[in-house]
Amino acid sequence: MVTVKDLLKIKGHDVYTVAVDATVFEALKLMADKGVGALVVMAGEKLTGIISERDYARKIILKGKFSRDTLVREIMASKVICAQPDYTLEDCMALMTQRRVRHMPVLDSGRLLGIISIGDVVKAIISNRETTQAVINSLLRLSLEDIGFDQFLKRAVELMLSVPWLAFEKQGSIFLTENDSDLLVMKAQSGLSENIKVKCAQLPFGRCLCGRAAMTRELQFASGLDDRHEIRYEGIVPHGHYCVPIVHGEKVLGVINMYVRQGHKRDQREEAFLSAVANTLAGIIQRKRLERELVQTERLAAIGQTVAGIAHCVKGILFGLEGGVYVVNKALRIDDKDKLYTGWNMVQRNIDKVSALVFDLLSYSKERLPDYEYCSLNEIANEVVELMEPRVTHSSFGKIEMIRDFDPKIGKVRLDPKGIHRCLLNLVSNAIDACFYDPNEAKAHFIKVTTRREPDGGIMIQVSDNGCGMDKGIQKQLFTGLFSTKGSKGTGLGLPVTQKIVQEHGGILTVDSTPEKGSVFTISLPVDQKEDKTIFSKGGGYK
Ligand SMILES: Nc1ncnc2c1ncn2[C@@H]1O[C@H](COP(=O)(O)OP(=O)(O)O)[C@@H](O)[C@H]1O
Ligand SMILES: [Mg+2]
Repeated sequence: MVTVKDLLKIKGHDVYTVAVDATVFEALKLMADKGVGALVVMAGEKLTGIISERDYARKIILKGKFSRDTLVREIMASKVICAQPDYTLEDCMALMTQRRVRHMPVLDSGRLLGIISIGDVVKAIISNRETTQAVINSLLRLSLEDIGFDQFLKRAVELMLSVPWLAFEKQGSIFLTENDSDLLVMKAQSGLSENIKVKCAQLPFGRCLCGRAAMTRELQFASGLDDRHEIRYEGIVPHGHYCVPIVHGEKVLGVINMYVRQGHKRDQREEAFLSAVANTLAGIIQRKRLERELVQTERLAAIGQTVAGIAHCVKGILFGLEGGVYVVNKALRIDDKDKLYTGWNMVQRNIDKVSALVFDLLSYSKERLPDYEYCSLNEIANEVVELMEPRVTHSSFGKIEMIRDFDPKIGKVRLDPKGIHRCLLNLVSNAIDACFYDPNEAKAHFIKVTTRREPDGGIMIQVSDNGCGMDKGIQKQLFTGLFSTKGSKGTGLGLPVTQKIVQEHGGILTVDSTPEKGSVFTISLPVDQKEDKTIFSKGGGYK
């Protein structure tokens, strides 16, 4: 809400006056010198009228008089329409149009504070409209940037609070509904105390002002802590609110909550601003949700396409299990301990394969949020190497050397241990396959697992091998769909799942490979991630 006082702050308090007994010529000269269209007329200390260029045109020129011979008092308007400092721009606009005046002196208890023209008022109104448009443009631009959705909402709150002509306190938040339920969840805030963050973390429709805005789909305004403000706490400072529902079609997507000073008057233009932002946010939220659903649908469609391939893979595992069970049964019958060991190993290996497949399918098909903990990355990497070592030492192919290149100074790293374990398992098992598939059997094969704490605090995890490597054609397809060169032995899920888990950690997965020479897969994780980087993240972890 902009008042005359705000306008004078920008425009200045200068008022040019002329004495009532001065000649019109003197008045005109002053107007020309100062570049103004009107002067306040004073009789001593007293405001007695106002004289404008229009008075000169109508009352001197048209009447054939001369400005040097005429006194200001003869042509001035003596009924002066004045403004008060707390008038809004809209009040002024209405008054000036109604009374047909172009200039209004501003009086505060009889004291002359300044003068405003209709041009000043129009300019200020236009500039306010422009800021609304600028905020909406910024929101639209931000929505296209590659920042997490929670981050986008936080910036939206900050943008709303940054508009100078709105009388919001420097506090606000945005709530969104979860899964089409009647529950509002606070997704972004600025300036709220810990107390409010906890008390208002979740609100059912109907509760307090925000809940009412969601339930009624109507803006709720309160100039103070009235009965509707159900959430209270010790030490609550009196304040008011604008709570504006974010509605798309029939659906309530959330609520914008802004704080105003106790006793603040409801203002139409503030409402219009907030409604414009709410409408823009509704479009953006809906678009983001659809995008997310689309990614989900595409992923499911991709899974659908490869169900046949997966069924094939499961069949292979079943064969392996049946084989193992057969060997175990036979070993029991003939009481052969060695055979029993071999058969049991076959069963275990195939159970591992099934659980890995199920894990990958679940990770790939669902949006997940890493279950962060501070853990020892080297221990995770070591577990993976230990788990895979029997595969390379007991193979008929010959020995593949497993090299542990762990950074002893890496310390505790904040990540999802199960997720990162899975990534490493996928990369190491691909590296083993790459050595098996290498036509150059004479090569001394090795697989190296590296962990590093980068100088900037970021984490690097690398799996390199000197196996068969990949040509550019294969490299291009690695993450596009469920791509595999291993026929029924592969699912093509390993790398997409690994990439997805890495991205959900806010990191990136890169590949460097040369045919016949080998490949290097590098996971780079950002410095200790404290915030969720995922869009519309939901709990879950890689369980
Ligand atoms: N270390 C590697 N060396 C050579 N090729 C690799 C390596 N890792 C992955 N690939 C190629 O990428 C393909 C996809 O890998 P992945 O997604 O794990 O599925 P899968 O292992 O089931 O085939 C593999 O089939 C293989 O052609
Ligand atoms: Mg694989």
